[in-house]
Amino acid sequence: MADGAGGGDVTLARTLSWPHLVALGVGAIVGTGILTLIGVGAAKAGPAVLVSFAIAGFVCACAALAYAEMATRTPAAGGAYAYARDWMGRGPGWFVGWSLVLEYSLVVSAVAVGWSGYAAPLFIEWLGFPPELTVGPHLGGIMNLPAVVVIWVVAGVLMLGTGKGAALNAALVFVKLAALAVFAAVTIGHFDLANLHPFNPYGFSKSMGPDGVERGIMAAAAIIFSAFYGFDAVATAAEETRNPKRDLTLGIIGSMIACALIYTLIAALALGASPFTRFADSPEPLALILRELGEPGAATFLALSAVIALPTVIFAFFFGQSRIFLALARDGFLPAPLAQVSADGRATRVIGFTAMVVSVIAALLPLGEIVALANAGTLLAFGAVASCLLIARRRGHQSEHAIRIPYGRVIALIALAGCFYLFISLPRTTHGLFLAWNVLGVLIYWVVRRRAAAAR
Ligand code: ALA
Repeated sequence: MADGAGGGDVTLARTLSWPHLVALGVGAIVGTGILTLIGVGAAKAGPAVLVSFAIAGFVCACAALAYAEMATRTPAAGGAYAYARDWMGRGPGWFVGWSLVLEYSLVVSAVAVGWSGYAAPLFIEWLGFPPELTVGPHLGGIMNLPAVVVIWVVAGVLMLGTGKGAALNAALVFVKLAALAVFAAVTIGHFDLANLHPFNPYGFSKSMGPDGVERGIMAAAAIIFSAFYGFDAVATAAEETRNPKRDLTLGIIGSMIACALIYTLIAALALGASPFTRFADSPEPLALILRELGEPGAATFLALSAVIALPTVIFAFFFGQSRIFLALARDGFLPAPLAQVSADGRATRVIGFTAMVVSVIAALLPLGEIVALANAGTLLAFGAVASCLLIARRRGHQSEHAIRIPYGRVIALIALAGCFYLFISLPRTTHGLFLAWNVLGVLIYWVVRRRAAAAR
């Protein structure tokens, strides 16, 4: 059952091994979360956003471990969708898949908007780009054109094929890490503990401020959470790995550990180098900090590196998204032509379809709202993966390919509770939108079932 059938006769070329997956993982994980959302998080929690990072990272690490085991128990494309389908049934599987569609689409859109935050000032200054074409209507602009462009460029790279894309991705991960290293090198000399006081101005759990904005360490954690995910994009590549057991475990756990270390360091240095109120609302907080420290050269280097390397995150989520669409289409939930894969494993149609949807969202909506809704989908999917692990352990089924993480049940329970607490810490408007998304999901499920019944 759980060893990866996945249904259908569409197969993907096995071109990836674990170094590709760690690069894919770090490429997917380090992105807008540390480069941009650190500002949004600081606005919600002050310097205590460091605690938010720790909480979000801990919950995500537990979910990552559950993922690692489930990925080796179900090495088929589709990530959490495939696990839920195989261990919980078709109905729950559909809702997890539907949540993943929300997560992956919105992350692609969100990171494209984050990319635009760093790219737009360069476009405006160097190319005379019209400012109203760099932000959506919520900020008085017409549309976020740079975000749309970057989405289509990444889509083009993916359409060239996974192997070539993954090699390019590995090179770009180095650029991103170099930019963060420069940030660390410059800010370490400006670290001032006074900037961390008061440490926790808005309290622990989410509470509504007099201005109608929800704040607190947990409110920030519920947004910052997205900084840590991306490892699940590794799991969606299961079918394309040469040795799923070794490659997936090292890929997922290795990339999580690396990113947790990088974030703690960069967030602490940013908060120590500048009062959080200075950079909280900036679309390019790390570059702003460097400029205000009198380091415009380093700021431009960081911005340029972000512009060159942030697309790795878009790449990884795009890749994951196309695999989820593929898995859903293979199982009859989406139109069959979407599932067509070329002889060498390229899913061109599904990538084009994804690009169309996510570029409209990126063109028009604000970053904070996109991320919050993406997180709602992710938290449901992570909760489902933890539940799948509990179910799998209860059934006692063990395939020769599966790894068994130590204290698996305890880790799964922590992941479940953590995802629930983070979910209720999301903004109220996000809860409403997520409900609406799932009502749409119920309708699609109903139509698909009726058609299947009619065809029998
Ligand atoms: N972890 C990814 C980021 O921070 C989604 O951009």
